[in-house]
Amino acid sequence: MEFKPEMGNGVDSWKEVNLIYNSALKEIGTKLEILNDEFQHVHQYNPIEHIKSRIKTPESIVKKLRKNGYESTIPNMVKYVNDIAGIRVICSFTSDIYRIAEMLINQSDIKVISVKDYIKKPKPSGYKSYHLIVTVPIFLSDRIVDAKVEIQIRTVAMDFWASLEHKIHYKFEGNVPEYIKKELVECANIVSALDGRMLLLNEEVQKKCASVADT
Ligand code: GTP
Ligand code: MG
Repeated sequence: MEFKPEMGNGVDSWKEVNLIYNSALKEIGTKLEILNDEFQHVHQYNPIEHIKSRIKTPESIVKKLRKNGYESTIPNMVKYVNDIAGIRVICSFTSDIYRIAEMLINQSDIKVISVKDYIKKPKPSGYKSYHLIVTVPIFLSDRIVDAKVEIQIRTVAMDFWASLEHKIHYKFEGNVPEYIKKELVECANIVSALDGRMLLLNEEVQKKCASVADT
């Protein structure tokens, strides 16, 4: 079996791009489900609320390539567009985000390309999320290709904020009025405060339950 660590010349049609990135979403999705099931088994709770995945449309791939000054070719897609395959993992608590990310990164077939922690360092918009770009090997009949996946991990509250902000951005075609931007930053601060308090509350409840179980 020939090993091609870098896709590009190994992937030569849109159909093949689709096949490989869809497989990558399945691989990562299964890994996340297994971690969630194991957590349920060991700790009696699910760190993952839900998972959403998507393949980027050919139109948005072409748009992104053009924006960055690249020709629309398959090798350019594979090389320069990191989010053809995207997975969003929604967790209950901020601590779950780091746990899930660490457990995934530690798997021997996963290679980390980049980590962006917009929770520790939120974007000026107020956006918070933990972003990973990883590769996962896809075993085809005659070769193995490493496929990139963008993983966004965030809490339910962060996701609520991000989806509203995204809709607002879309409505105003990018020219969001200043007072709305300010309000969004305020809401992002409330999201952080809420996430912090919910985490403390949950820890308190866990401690209480553990001490009751001990008696
Ligand atoms: P692109 O934004 O995809 O070109 O990539 P990038 O290199 O800027 O990476 P980054 O990690 O900053 O963003 C990747 C993705 O995160 C975006 O495509 C969005 O889905 C999401 N994202 C980043 N910033 C924001 C934001 O301010 N608001 C919302 N709603 N989503 C964001
Ligand atoms: Mg993107």
